[in-house]
Amino acid sequence: MSDFQRIGVVGSGLMGSGIAEVCARAGLDVIVREIDAGAAEAGQKRLTKSLDRGMSSGKLTEAERDAALGGVSFTTDLGDLADRQLVIEAAVEDETLKVGIFKELDKVVVDERAVLASNTSSIPIMKLGIATARPEQVIGIHFFNPVPVLRLVELVTSLMTSPETVAAADAFATDVLHKQVIRSKDRAGFVVNALLIPYLLSAIRMMESGFATAEDIDTGMVEGCNHPMGPLHLTDLIGLDTTLAVAQSLYEEFKEPLYAPPPMLSRMVEAGLLGRKSGRGFYDYAR
Ligand SMILES: NC(=O)c1ccc[n+]([C@@H]2O[C@H](COP(=O)([O-])OP(=O)(O)OC[C@H]3O[C@@H](n4cnc5c(N)ncnc54)[C@H](O)[C@@H]3O)[C@@H](O)[C@H]2O)c1
Repeated sequence: MSDFQRIGVVGSGLMGSGIAEVCARAGLDVIVREIDAGAAEAGQKRLTKSLDRGMSSGKLTEAERDAALGGVSFTTDLGDLADRQLVIEAAVEDETLKVGIFKELDKVVVDERAVLASNTSSIPIMKLGIATARPEQVIGIHFFNPVPVLRLVELVTSLMTSPETVAAADAFATDVLHKQVIRSKDRAGFVVNALLIPYLLSAIRMMESGFATAEDIDTGMVEGCNHPMGPLHLTDLIGLDTTLAVAQSLYEEFKEPLYAPPPMLSRMVEAGLLGRKSGRGFYDYAR
């Protein structure tokens, strides 16, 4: 069984708000830290909207929605995470930023047995662990988007993560959040993104070269391979900025051309075409 009752989440974008939601729905006390009041408000709205969706689809009662909402509070002060037993970092995929967050968390979180986890898609856990004085308590707990829907969690252990930390994180994900856990060693991309990102980049290259349209590429994979969503729709869902950052980490780690981001992806991110979250990516979501 898991002992974690007081959970901290850093970041309330697509993933942080989903992680806060599943923790609150499991009856835990959750504090979410964002960079400013506007971002915290956006995170709170995302959380409320998702819980409302859960209610209208019959997965949650009104009382369960209210209890989950009541279990999450937002702050802009990392110091408010001092009493947390588990902190899950889900800020943007930027190594320097994440290293800074782990340094601060190490100073702020009082419980010397607390586990400091990252939801990073690709940054080596060792780099975050050595930013703290407790690398044996640092682990990757990698959720999938949308967090309340997708069951998978990758547990990523660095060379220094202790067996106790792995056992505690596994019990939390399995028994409390009812996720399906797979384990990965500490290599950029872990299991799923190491396989998925080259596929997404190939679809972007195919479109960029004029080989086929976005619609035909997506229809090909949906109708021909029974995928629930085509690769360009999926890239829009993940976020083009996140996809680019993950590809860059993979390329930096392995130096394999299959991980090199295509110029079109870089240009689209520079233009602010980030996918669903910005209203436009390979498809237009503006209503
Ligand atoms: N998008 C996906 O499908 C997906 C899936 C699995 C894992 N991830 C990983 O999850 C993490 C977050 O991704 P996302 O898709 O939620 O990104 P996002 O851009 O939707 O959200 C990131 C949030 O982090 C906040 N933030 C930035 N600096 C912060 C700080 N210092 N303290 C607190 N909050 C801060 C931003 O304000 C923003 O709200 C990344 O590491 C990403 O690789 C993403």
